[in-house]
Formats: sequence, structure tokens, C-alpha cells
Amino acid sequence: MAQQKLQGIRGMNDLLPDEAERWEAFEEIVRDWLKSYGYRPIRTPILEPTALFVRGVGEHTDIVEKEMYSFEDRLNGEQLTMRPEGTAACVRAVTEHNLLYGASQRLYYMGPMFRHERPQKGRYRQFHQVGVEALGFSGPDVDAELIVMCRRLWDDLGLEDVTLEINSLGDAAERAQHRQALIAYLEQHQDVLDDDGKRRLHSNPLRVLDSKNPAMQEVIEAAPKLMDFLGEESLEHFEGVTALLREAAVPYRINPRLVRGLDYYNRTVFEWVTTRLGAQATICAGGRYDSLIESLGGKPAPAAGFAMGMERVMMMWMDGQESGPVSRLDAYVVYQGDAAQRLGFRLGEELRAAGFSVVFHCGGGSFKAQMKKADASGATYAIVIGEDEVATQSVSLKPLREGGEQERIAVDALTDELAERIYGSEE
Ligand code: HAM
Repeated sequence: MAQQKLQGIRGMNDLLPDEAERWEAFEEIVRDWLKSYGYRPIRTPILEPTALFVRGVGEHTDIVEKEMYSFEDRLNGEQLTMRPEGTAACVRAVTEHNLLYGASQRLYYMGPMFRHERPQKGRYRQFHQVGVEALGFSGPDVDAELIVMCRRLWDDLGLEDVTLEINSLGDAAERAQHRQALIAYLEQHQDVLDDDGKRRLHSNPLRVLDSKNPAMQEVIEAAPKLMDFLGEESLEHFEGVTALLREAAVPYRINPRLVRGLDYYNRTVFEWVTTRLGAQATICAGGRYDSLIESLGGKPAPAAGFAMGMERVMMMWMDGQESGPVSRLDAYVVYQGDAAQRLGFRLGEELRAAGFSVVFHCGGGSFKAQMKKADASGATYAIVIGEDEVATQSVSLKPLREGGEQERIAVDALTDELAERIYGSEE
């Protein structure tokens, strides 16, 4: 009996070769860009102790309340979570390995994150982030650097229609004062709040301001603004960031309602948004998180960072790209007979050692069937080896893309000939 076909998990996508090649090309651009700002890679596990995110991201956030893939390890009873974001994990690793003793760090990571959200265009349960964290810097210059470097990447990728929203969340004491005023205000308007709003009123009143419920907009609009509670230092920091943005000619919009969905932020927060992706408009987001390191058990140190959703940025980037494979195979080796097989096998290795990409036909078959495979492979040339070629220690080189005659080339001259044809014509 035929077995039932198994399917992947909803909201978790396969990247098939054409798309995966684009991702690799994108990752290469991203790595070059990060290197140009002196950021170094860090890789942390997918699984972390659940407590890390509860404490780091915040108990009353959507992520911790309802989106984490958490489970108990049956084998030892540990409470584990598949990382929903990278900042807490990065800080955990940096603290655990004492990377901040007498030093600051500019770090980045790339990889999958997991949130049990309702899947839709641009929103997945397994998605990928490029995360960038600058640890140990307190000044507004690093906030500005993080933002300006995003702008550079959008330029490198040729993305249009990406705009910057920025806000300051002040410091703990200022937020506490604002929070008190906000709770008092929202309590006065409880009749207008929906269930989520009522639930968050005391646990996370800032998030009430994030509601999209039309019935609540008037109340939200008139709510006490955090900006009005900021002290001199916070205002100065914010002014420092925006001054550098103006200096770098990065346009921004101050959005006093930008509060972010994770609890660790203070002072600068920002989001890069687009109108091109429908509801999932934020392609990149971040800010300052000066107390996270300490709250995860490290020696107090300031920090700031951001993460971009790779699927979202890829969608925008691909918009302006041709489809089809990114990388071209240089040659595909077809042969007939044992001696030809051995010669082809050896030549394949020699060509790869010289830097070419070569597929050696596996599985035998007639010349005709093998040539079909060679064509389908997308290779630029077929290297054809039959009895004749073996006898004269040569190969037949057949162009598969642009017309041109098949030519006999001596085995010893093959590497140079291929180099001349492939690289010689590029200049
Ligand atoms: P976040 O705002 O939760 O921040 O996520 C950053 C970005 O990841 C979002 O702007 C979005 O582009 C993408 N993203 C989030 N959830 C999904 C999803 N379900 N599907 C597709 N893309 C998604 C953070 O994660 C912070 N760790 C950023 C940060 C780093 N702050 C400081 N350092």
C-alpha cells in the first residue's frame, strides 16, 4: 500500500534550489556589508533555556505569552525554547564567555527564529533574521551607526520605498512615571478598551497604545506621551542620534507611538518600514537595551542593536531581480566506455582544482541521454569523451548556451582553454 505523503509544518518553508541560491547570494552581500562596519559573527544554539526569553524578552510580551515553541526535554526535565529572537541568546553567550571584560563587541548572527504566529505573507513560524548587536557602547553615535548601516544595505540592494521611524523610550524611571500616568488615563477610559487592552492595562500599558482597534484610536491618540516625560539626558541622547542622522542625510520620522514588542528596550527604538509588503511592513527593527545584560546576570553594560527579517528583505530585493538560477555551472562531463569514464573523472577533479564548477555525469546511459542531462544542468559547456577522444588524449568541448561549434581540445590544454573561454570573455 502506498504510504501517505508527509508534509512540512505550516508556516515553516522549504527553500528550493533556485531560491536557496538567491539566499546565498544575499547572505554574501550581507556578510560583506557587516564586515565593512567591523562586525564579527557569533553563532548560538537554536535551543535555549526557556527562562532566558521569559526574563530577557519579558513575561508580558506576545512572544513569551503565546508565541514560543517551548517544551520539556523528556530526557532530563529541562524547560527549553526554540529561540524566538537572537538578542537574549547573544547576550547570554557574550556574558557566559566574558567577552565584555574590558572590551566592547560588534557582533552579528544570521539564522532561523521561531514564533507561533498566524502565518501570512511575510509572517512565518520559522523565519530568518540578520541580527546586529553593538555591546558596550553608551553614546548616541552607535545608535546612529546602526541606523546608517541599514540605509547602506538598502542602497547596496537597490531597495526603494523603505522609510525610517524612530522614537525614544527614555529610561526606567521616566518610563515608570509615564506608565503611572498612562494607567491612570487608561483606567479613566476602560469602557473603550477591548479585551486585550483591558488585559494589558496593568501588565503592559504601553502595548495598549500599539492596538490597531479603530474604536480605541481616539483614546490612544490623546494618551500621555512618553516623550513628554523624558529627562534631560534622554532627550540629549535622542537629539544626538537624530543630529547624526541628519548629518548622514538619512531621513527619519519621529513616531511617538513606536513602542516595540519586546521589553528590553530603553531610549532609542527604530523600525524600517515599507508599503510594498502589505500588512507585514516592518523589514528591520531594533534599539537600545542598556539593562538587558545586567538583567541576564552580566556586569552592567550598555548595548544596542537591530534585526531584519530576511524573508521580508528578500521579497523586496527579488522584486527587482530576474528569476532562475544565480550560479552557472561551467561544465558537465559526459562519456562512453570505461576508459572515457576514468579520463572524465580525472579531468573533472583537475578542473575543479583550477576553480571551475564541474558536474561529472553519474549513472551511465547513451550519449544522447547524457547530453540531455548536460543541457538541463544549465552548464556552459559539455565535455564529451568517447573512444576516439581517449585514443587521442583529447576531449570534445561543446558550447551548450551560446551557439558555436564543438571543438577538439587536447587534454593538457583543457584547463587553459576553458579559462580563456570563460574568464577571458568576461573582461
Ligand atoms: P523583532 O521586531 O521582534 O525584533 O524582529 C525583527 C524583525 O524580524 C521584524 O522587523 C521582522 O522583519 C522580522 N520578523 C519578526 N517576526 C517575524 C515573522 N513571524 N515572520 C517573518 N519575519 C519576522 C527582534 O527580534 C529583536 N531581537 C531585534 C533587536 C536586535 N533589537 C536589538 N537587537
